[in-house]
Amino acid sequence: MKMGNKEERRMTGAVLWVLVGVMGVGVRGLENGLARTPPMGWLAWQRFRCNTDCVNDPHNCISESLFMQMADIIVNQGYQELGYDIISLDDCWLARNRDSHGRLQADPHRFPSGIAALSDYMHKRGLKFGIYEDYGNFTCAGYPGILGYLQIDAQTFAEWGVDYVKLDGCYSHPVDMDQGYPEFGYYLNKTGRPMVYSCSWPFYQILSHIQPNYTSIINTCNLWRNFDDIQDSWESVQRIIDYYGDNQDEIVPNAGPGHWNDPDMLIIGNFGLSYEQSKSQMAMWAIFAAPLLMSVDLRTIRPEYRAILQNQAVIAVNQDSLGIQGKRIYKDKGIEIWARPITPVTQGHYSYAIAFLNRRTDGTPSEVSVTLRELGLAFPGGYAITDLFDGVHYGTVLPDKRFKVDVNPSGVVLVRCEVIKSIGFGGGRAQFREPPPQRTLRNPFQNQLFNNFRQQRHF
Ligand code: GAL
Repeated sequence: MKMGNKEERRMTGAVLWVLVGVMGVGVRGLENGLARTPPMGWLAWQRFRCNTDCVNDPHNCISESLFMQMADIIVNQGYQELGYDIISLDDCWLARNRDSHGRLQADPHRFPSGIAALSDYMHKRGLKFGIYEDYGNFTCAGYPGILGYLQIDAQTFAEWGVDYVKLDGCYSHPVDMDQGYPEFGYYLNKTGRPMVYSCSWPFYQILSHIQPNYTSIINTCNLWRNFDDIQDSWESVQRIIDYYGDNQDEIVPNAGPGHWNDPDMLIIGNFGLSYEQSKSQMAMWAIFAAPLLMSVDLRTIRPEYRAILQNQAVIAVNQDSLGIQGKRIYKDKGIEIWARPITPVTQGHYSYAIAFLNRRTDGTPSEVSVTLRELGLAFPGGYAITDLFDGVHYGTVLPDKRFKVDVNPSGVVLVRCEVIKSIGFGGGRAQFREPPPQRTLRNPFQNQLFNNFRQQRHF
């Protein structure tokens, strides 16, 4: 299937914005109370794309059986209990035309039971069901879009038992989106059925050099894409990481319970990432407070990649209840340090997840040596540090103690630094547990890279 590039698709939709302008619906925020932590689940696009050839490739085509199989694995292989609970269609589920009443319909050959039945299949297993559509006259792959049918489509989704709606932005004009996305949110809200609302609105506007109105976006969407589609490569993951770091002052404050930046799907377990790079994506998506939407063939994923996706400690960082997105606090010579404030909070001091990310390609691990104070972690009682991938406990580390991590090429070390809770109060002063022996603290002067380490920016 030939798909035009985004710029072409945008231009094709340019004539439609006038139509939207005259509809004149009073718009207000979605206010749906959903997605208090970043959504987690499985999304078809990155791995299965627009494969509609169920005759020659029945195992991998976009069909109801693909989604049912993924749902079964999510339930039976431990994903669901870790929080992955949304199974979502992406593009290419639709028939080429609406039905005689103007309602959307699934491709009858690939979804013979219909969408309501598929949604029911998910609900019976305690899962949520997601759907894909587009705020334009076509989806990106050329299937019917919602423009001109906003109310009827929102109603149809509600009747089908949809829990999550990804609304793309091909074949529409980005200027229209400031009204169009809230308008569809209004209709979703009006159905009375809670549906998580995933938007592509800022991404298309940024692409067209329009400054997104994040105040309106936060009030409308539960999550939104800011940047280009992820592809199956480390290069693509790095571009997303760079975008988030380079634009953090603008985009990080927009994240919070109910409204999240979406750096796109997890590609872990596919073809393009090494084991180290896969851990890096998982760690960075935890730092970003990003939706965890796996797009991988769960039927064939290798156990070591599945273990990354199922790392409970990393998921706990991602799902931290404060919902504060992390920031890049250091970047030099291919080494980055990212910090995300998390719970518990003691006496006004946050705990932190810290990611040491190695972008270097020299064939040996890089040693990074820092003190917590240099990272902005200054609680006098210290922090209990745990490495979230290898499970090593570093014990309690005081702010001025230097500690060291070895970070593999294109890999990451992700640590959780929990502020030590006071165990009692005497004369108004907190007392702290005796720090246990610190087996991994190193000589502060051994480090190669950080002789001139300077703290850059803290929360
Ligand atoms: C893109 C979107 C992808 C996928 C695709 C489907 O615009 O960013 O995530 O949904 O369209 O055609």
